[in-house]
Amino acid sequence: MSDIAEKSILIIGLGMIGGSVARGLRKALPHRVLLACDKSSETLEQAKQDKVIDESGTIAAMCAKADVVIVALPPLTIARLLPEIALHCKSDAIITDVASVKSHVLAISRELGEDFQRKFVPAHPIAGSEKSGYDASISDLFTNRNVIITPQSMNAPESIAVINSLWRSLGANVLGMSSERHDEVLAATSHLPHLLAYAIVDVLVKQEQSEDIFRYAAGGFADFSRLASSDARMWADIFIANSAATGRVLDAYIENLHSLKTAIENKDHDYLKNVFSQAKQTRDNFINTHFKPTNQETMSNSKLKFCVDPGGSIEGTIRVAGDKSISHRSIILGAIADGTTHIKGFLEGEDALNTVAAFREMGVTIVGPENGELTIYGVGKHGLKAPRKSLYMGNSGTAMRLLTGLLSAQSFSSELTGDESLSQRPMNRIVKPLREMGALIDTDTDGTPPLKITGRPLKGIKYDMPMASAQVKSCLLLAGLYAEGLTEISEPAPCRDHTERMLSGFSYPMKKYTDEGTCGVEGGHNLSGTEIEVPADVSSAAFFMVAAAITPGSDLMLEHVGINPTRIGIVNLLGKMGADISLSNERLVGGEPVADLRIRYRPLKGIEVPMDQIPLAIDEFPVLFVAAACAEGKTLLHGAEELRVKESDRIDAMAKGLEILGIRVETFPDGICITGGDIGGGCVDSFGDHRIAMSFAIAGLRAKSTVTIANCGNVATSFPDFVELASHVGVKIVASVE
Ligand code: S3P
Repeated sequence: MSDIAEKSILIIGLGMIGGSVARGLRKALPHRVLLACDKSSETLEQAKQDKVIDESGTIAAMCAKADVVIVALPPLTIARLLPEIALHCKSDAIITDVASVKSHVLAISRELGEDFQRKFVPAHPIAGSEKSGYDASISDLFTNRNVIITPQSMNAPESIAVINSLWRSLGANVLGMSSERHDEVLAATSHLPHLLAYAIVDVLVKQEQSEDIFRYAAGGFADFSRLASSDARMWADIFIANSAATGRVLDAYIENLHSLKTAIENKDHDYLKNVFSQAKQTRDNFINTHFKPTNQETMSNSKLKFCVDPGGSIEGTIRVAGDKSISHRSIILGAIADGTTHIKGFLEGEDALNTVAAFREMGVTIVGPENGELTIYGVGKHGLKAPRKSLYMGNSGTAMRLLTGLLSAQSFSSELTGDESLSQRPMNRIVKPLREMGALIDTDTDGTPPLKITGRPLKGIKYDMPMASAQVKSCLLLAGLYAEGLTEISEPAPCRDHTERMLSGFSYPMKKYTDEGTCGVEGGHNLSGTEIEVPADVSSAAFFMVAAAITPGSDLMLEHVGINPTRIGIVNLLGKMGADISLSNERLVGGEPVADLRIRYRPLKGIEVPMDQIPLAIDEFPVLFVAAACAEGKTLLHGAEELRVKESDRIDAMAKGLEILGIRVETFPDGICITGGDIGGGCVDSFGDHRIAMSFAIAGLRAKSTVTIANCGNVATSFPDFVELASHVGVKIVASVE
């Protein structure tokens, strides 16, 4: 029973937050019995008259009746009352709070013992205003606002799901964070601004002739000081409860003020202008991204360009970001598993983060990512909730295609949208077989997104894929988890098998076949939460493999790279071109093979790409074309028409850029021929494709002069710290706003 709609709910404290919770619940769940406690009997009477609550009484009396207890009081009061609540609440009650400091209440929770810790799921709605008290409460205070749940390790995923469902029914977006991170983030984003507002009013009050000052104070003062009208007692509580984190951020702020003061004394106009313009740009971006009038996501930094100067060599030891394919799959399977899934090495790129956001929108509590770690509180195969808005998949074909399989089989409808590039990518390859399974999906006329999916029961099919696509295979496997009978997929050539491996990791029984090219699942089984360690992405490592392979004097070590046999086309093809690559420390991590890769410079020669390597290197061709441009002789590729329907037409995009840099290329509908030669400088376009952008950055290493690459914002979709790592190993690269 993980739905709040079936519970009796007690709200302790009917101030602005508690009152708004009560009003919101009354509106969303009119038939629920709402109980309340408050120190003011007038407030309780008023709430009854308003028909906001049904019953009130002492904490002991009300706790004895409640399935869910929401403690909506200032942090120090919550801490004081928790022991009393623990004493009187039902044995299977779930208790939550609204405090904007978590470490403090968690310390009390720990003192109350394991039984209480299991019951107590801390949460914090990021909503409110400078107003306070029941009179200021409104029913839609939490609509579209973020609520952060900071689960305790002992919480059952079902209890977390109830609290998630509580806030979701109030219209909130539910996020997850560790309590430590929560307190750090809130100290900086909420507590510090409140302190400064109180401080500025305090400073002005203490000035001589303060009356005069206030008389002339205009909009700036009113804007800035609004927060100083907040409830004084509550904010005193907050600073005491979060003294460690607020102390740290205050130190940083004081240091900053000292620098500004010195700049003012020195009349250092440039310093002030720089600080102010950076702050202005940051705030403008923040407002644009988070407070847009429409809810349409845009790439905040798509107007980024890279400038790369030639020369140097590639040296050092690095670990590139986590594998994108595996990161997507870990969220999807973790969300529909029973129990908790912990992920390490998760890729914090925009694509994978959009997948996280989509599952949060479907009611899954996900904590993180924090330093590549994530915890997913699985809701089980039938626990996803209908999304309240379109699910935005950004730039990611993988996310859109895999989620379509999953969503086709749910008991609700959904819509998937994407950015400009994704909106042009072919979806019929998944829609056709899904329709054979009984799915109801609408696309645009040419089979492109948005996809409107009406979830319904599906039947298993036997499907011979016309192309070697891991996205199609995975989409059908996910639909097959829910379908009646067996879903069986045969591939014309091996393509990445992360879904199959991970399903086994989640204890889902996979059908066994003697034929290597076939896989299948039977519907109706469940997944169990697990531990996942995501290897470094071989597709991201590929840029550095080529960088070291083409740059004289290079010697680079890439650690913990995924070397799944369905992904190592790049290693095979560079090896065939004569590159000096060696693998060491080969091991299996969570069902995926990984190794450390050492690459040293050695002159390359052109090759004819064998057909069987194409699916194994499908994402690496752009950077392989750069290796080909630096190799002696011709490199010929045929049979790779798939490259034309990736994030861009990668044959066209690479051919255009290489020609600008003076390389001879000939293109075919299904491939390219590149003649190695001298790379010149120039300006190329990435066409908004992350892999094209990074490939030309690597080409810059061997150019005669600077290579400038336009439209590089999407690098953040797969490799957010590319520029940093590239600089670290010796690429002379600068990213700037176009
Ligand atoms: C992916 C499969 C490949 C690949 C994409 C990721 C996946 O696409 O190009 O970047 O995670 O399954 P196709 O399945 O379309 O070949």
